Amino acid sequence: MTQTGNVPFVDLQMLHRELEAELVAAFKEALQTAGFIGGPSVSGFEREFADFCDTKYCAGVSSGTDALRFALTAAGVEPGDIVVTVPLTFFATTEAISQAGARPDFVDIDGCTYTMNPEKLREYMETQCVLDSATGKYVHRALGKPVTAVIPVHLYGQTADMDPILELAARYRLIVIEDACQAHGAEYFSKKENRWRKAGSMGRAAAFSFYPGKNLGACGEAGAVTTNDEAVAQKVRILRDHGQSKKYHHDVEGYNGRLDAIQAEILRIKLRHLAEWNEQRRESAKVYNDLLQSMGESVTLPTQPSWSKPVYHLYVIRTHDRENLQERMTGAGIGTGIHYPIPLHLLGAYASFGWKRGDFPVSEEAADQILSLPMFAGLHANQQQRVAGVVAEFASVQIAK
Ligand SMILES: Cc1ncc(COP(=O)(O)O)c(C=O)c1O
Repeated sequence: MTQTGNVPFVDLQMLHRELEAELVAAFKEALQTAGFIGGPSVSGFEREFADFCDTKYCAGVSSGTDALRFALTAAGVEPGDIVVTVPLTFFATTEAISQAGARPDFVDIDGCTYTMNPEKLREYMETQCVLDSATGKYVHRALGKPVTAVIPVHLYGQTADMDPILELAARYRLIVIEDACQAHGAEYFSKKENRWRKAGSMGRAAAFSFYPGKNLGACGEAGAVTTNDEAVAQKVRILRDHGQSKKYHHDVEGYNGRLDAIQAEILRIKLRHLAEWNEQRRESAKVYNDLLQSMGESVTLPTQPSWSKPVYHLYVIRTHDRENLQERMTGAGIGTGIHYPIPLHLLGAYASFGWKRGDFPVSEEAADQILSLPMFAGLHANQQQRVAGVVAEFASVQIAK
């Protein structure tokens, strides 16, 4: 808690104060060696993050958005394809689809987990798509384009229900790219494989963001692609570096999308603490659950299915009078967020696609009701009590209404 009793939505300064000596030493080392691009810091981080995610390969890139774009292209998505995702996610998910030359389309989410509803994906493939025997691809009947990939988003630090999604993807020949930008270290229990699987290790490839506020955050922009497919990893490495496999040997046109060495070294330092920070977030989620469980129907708490070990990038509650609750929080000096207030199909950027309110009702209702409470590693139980106190006042007013 700050001296005024305010509770920030996220407190990055605290973690950085604890690690300051190490972080500054990494920066000094880079200055002394002038090793800013590539080199042992980047390859070291890639090895260590691949280990953390239980994957064979990791390629560091400049952001989560680039990670998604490069993963899509490297895995075989081509201009003119359709890539299916969910409307309740950060805008970068669909931006990356368009940047890869494909067209985004949506299926709705599950209203409890806020992640892709596999039944909706099944319905989409069964009713809206048909097999083109000439190409072996499933083509969207109305749009006349092949549907070649799906991006389940592991939102708020909880994985999507991957077994049925992977099964449908195999049946309909879809490439699976996980958007794991909010899910560093999250786990999914696969009944099919009878084991826990790490976010980022289940699809053909996955994208991570290391935007500063993420569970693993850089001190600037950074991202990574993880994969078990050597060819995909190699293509991402080429795409991120102007399409060159060797200096000045440009096999294709690529991008300036590398992970810089200072960020890589900072990420290595922080990665050593990530498991412990994720555990702290899980503990904080339990504390919130205990404090808030008696609020009655006016506040819905996050759902954690038995197949999920989330990492609580965000702790998101739900209420019919969200604006009122958020105003009370702001008035009490408590930071909150809305992730996200407008489902992507209703954004101005996609006006020309013709989507309208009612197309994805579960996402729309969630977007109207969700509120993210303060959540970060190092959140103190006293701070959570203050937050819960304001929610309790709000809930009792709601009940008395
Ligand atoms: C779900 C999701 N996808 C993609 C991104 C894009 O990551 P970046 O901001 O690093 O480009 C983010 C980051 O906020 C995200 O939360």
